[in-house]
Amino acid sequence: QSAKLVDRFGRIVNYLRVSITDRCDFRCVYCMSEDMVFLPRQQILSLEEIQFICQAFIELGVNKIRITGGEPLVRKGALDLMRQLGGLSGLHELVMTSNGSKLAQMARDLKAAGVKRLNISLDTLDPVLFKALTRTGDLENVLRGINAARDAGFQRIKLNAVILKNRNHREVADLVRFAVERGLDISFIEEMPLGAVDGHNRAEAYYPSQSIRQDLQQYFTLQAVADKTGGPSDYFRVSGSETNVGFISPHSANFCASCNRVRLTAEGRLLLCLGNEHSVDLKAVVRQYPDDMQALKHAIIDAMQIKPEKHEFNIHEQPVILRHMSATGG
Ligand code: GTP
Ligand code: 5AD
Ligand code: SF4
Repeated sequence: QSAKLVDRFGRIVNYLRVSITDRCDFRCVYCMSEDMVFLPRQQILSLEEIQFICQAFIELGVNKIRITGGEPLVRKGALDLMRQLGGLSGLHELVMTSNGSKLAQMARDLKAAGVKRLNISLDTLDPVLFKALTRTGDLENVLRGINAARDAGFQRIKLNAVILKNRNHREVADLVRFAVERGLDISFIEEMPLGAVDGHNRAEAYYPSQSIRQDLQQYFTLQAVADKTGGPSDYFRVSGSETNVGFISPHSANFCASCNRVRLTAEGRLLLCLGNEHSVDLKAVVRQYPDDMQALKHAIIDAMQIKPEKHEFNIHEQPVILRHMSATGG
């Protein structure tokens, strides 16, 4: 398929991230405040609307769709949506990012629905710290979810760990060992300043990817690999294993020049960059012109003109972007 979505900087957009709910059963300290107010139901796209918008993107050359949240699996009908999207021709990769809380029950059905790869958040293997970081999560349950996902036979499973200085930064080698023993990939993420979070100091918690790499090199040999998933990770292979370790370094190694993605928020806003508010209201388009694929495609094509060049995250200042990470799923 020829590229139809190209921005002002010549970047081809072929990856759509879709947040199907802003709700989550966890309250991770870097993502949310404790007393989050979620969107009312009427403001959220229906599953049919999401499907219609995804169809438009596929016709415009998108071949990878990642379903996110909040936690995508807390939305009723999530599995039905996966089945429908899984059946769309032209979509090479239907993938999902999850906190793992519902995977023990849902992993098999997700696989059967056509989800190819799963990214599962896991910041620590210490149950007490896990509770402190997620506020409402249960480590044992997530570990059961990871096992269920392995048993279900996904192509790849990648763990995501946001690394915070003096919280979980001493655990990076243990996390890699956990991944190696299970044949999983793992990405370490520098925290991004989105939305106000209470009781957590982002500047103090900053722990650069370079430091993680140095820590890991005491225990593992890391070889740079070209393996690009089309995401922002820089990957290294752990010698003698099947595990790729990725570094997502928005602060220390900006990756915006190779950006290939846009996001659809749960309320139907097409967000052109995670770190900027430039957006187009696609919900308004599909509600004003129901079933009009042409109108929708034109709105999407036009939106490429306002995709910003890069984010300007600065962890030392109050967040400029007030939207929480949970509104877009990262
Ligand atoms: P794959 O490479 O497809 O496996 O996925 P991914 O790493 O892109 O997706 P995932 O949902 O696992 O996100 C991991 C982290 O990358 C999250 O913290 C996201 O916020 C971050 N991330 C993904 N895309 C972008 C982006 O365009 N800009 C920034 N700044 N961060 C991103
Ligand atoms: N900065 C970086 N990553 C974040 N995530 C959630 N909030 C933030 C943030 N402020 C991560 C989650 C999940 C992924 C989709 O994004 O831990 O793994
Ligand atoms: Fe939920 Fe993910 Fe945010 Fe944690 S980071 S509160 S699991 S959406």
